[in-house]
Amino acid sequence: MNVVRIAIAGFGGVGRATANLLLARRERYRQVHGADIRLVAVCGSRSGLADADGLEPGRLDALEPGLSGPAFIEASGADILIEAGPSDFRTGGPGLAYIRSSLSSGRDAIVISKGALVHSGPELRALARSSGAMLKLSGAAAAALPTIDLLEHSLKGCEVLEIEGILNATTNYLLDAMMNQNLGFDEALARAQAGGFAEADPRNDTEGWDTASKLILIANFGLDADLTMDDLSVEGVQSIAAHDIEAWRKQRLVPKLVGRLVRTDSATRAAVGVRTYPPSDPLAHVSGKNKAIRITTDAMGETIAIGSGTEPLATAAAALKDLEHILTARAARASRGSGGEA
Ligand SMILES: NC(=O)c1ccc[n+]([C@@H]2O[C@H](COP(=O)([O-])OP(=O)(O)OC[C@H]3O[C@@H](n4cnc5c(N)ncnc54)[C@H](OP(=O)(O)O)[C@@H]3O)[C@@H](O)[C@H]2O)c1
Repeated sequence: MNVVRIAIAGFGGVGRATANLLLARRERYRQVHGADIRLVAVCGSRSGLADADGLEPGRLDALEPGLSGPAFIEASGADILIEAGPSDFRTGGPGLAYIRSSLSSGRDAIVISKGALVHSGPELRALARSSGAMLKLSGAAAAALPTIDLLEHSLKGCEVLEIEGILNATTNYLLDAMMNQNLGFDEALARAQAGGFAEADPRNDTEGWDTASKLILIANFGLDADLTMDDLSVEGVQSIAAHDIEAWRKQRLVPKLVGRLVRTDSATRAAVGVRTYPPSDPLAHVSGKNKAIRITTDAMGETIAIGSGTEPLATAAAALKDLEHILTARAARASRGSGGEA
């Protein structure tokens, strides 16, 4: 049995959900991948825990002060980092140092926070390429909604012409509530905050930055583009007024906050803003906290995926889907290394 050591940096709602799901799936990893998965370290901003033999679920509540930071993860002997810290696309956030240190020493990284990937995507991709480490980001790129996986696997070989995504659950809920429950923006937002799916400071979602971040990740990591925030025009939903809603209702149009990317031979153009759809369009029916992506390719036409899931479990599951991709790739490498067929 192949021992695979995992460390989790960032141990809030998502980090903990990931740890619990990882430990609950250990038998699956043994049976499907022949891997003995051990959670050897977890940490928050100032405290953590490490055990080379593997942490058990009952031990995860008592973190010890002082155990944190990239050097702590390095010392844990982890083979794979799962990064689930706070996201900040303007600075890269604390995740950047963890991901840099892991990739440069050849440790595979599964990244859940978007900030470092948006801020320093090309650098991190280059680091992974040069060290041979794998860099996966399903949790960051719309989590339960498959995005990069569709490009890498389901649509492999096709030329992508256009991507259109409802990538932020909060804004989709807000627009839905304004259109169908007759709520004003502030009232809809208060309900989303009371329900725990809008942040106390919701601007990252409502002003379109979260959608823009996800679109950049899909473009840069799924299509090998090189977009930065400066390349996008970004508009949110914060200025939508009652008269906009009334006009859309009269025209039987459904508004959605959408990240859209169009590719031509010479350029990739991307933008975030409200677009309206007739009821005949499948995107008009993506309601509430659901997300969706429509990918148009030269040879396979239109592919649409719609997804949601209860958070933080759904995001944890997206990150652990990446883990299974890594385990499969590691097994293939090992088999090639021992002269077997890949
Ligand atoms: N919540 C969701 O449903 C969801 C969905 C998709 C993606 N995400 C992304 O997942 C990430 C985590 O979300 P969350 O809801 O779990 O956030 P959270 O509950 O606020 O947890 C963030 C964690 O990061 C830790 N942290 C902060 N600075 C750190 C540092 N320098 N080193 C190590 N750890 C550090 C915090 O530690 P302390 O507790 O010590 O401050 C905390 O444990 C975010 O980037 C978010 O955007 C979340």
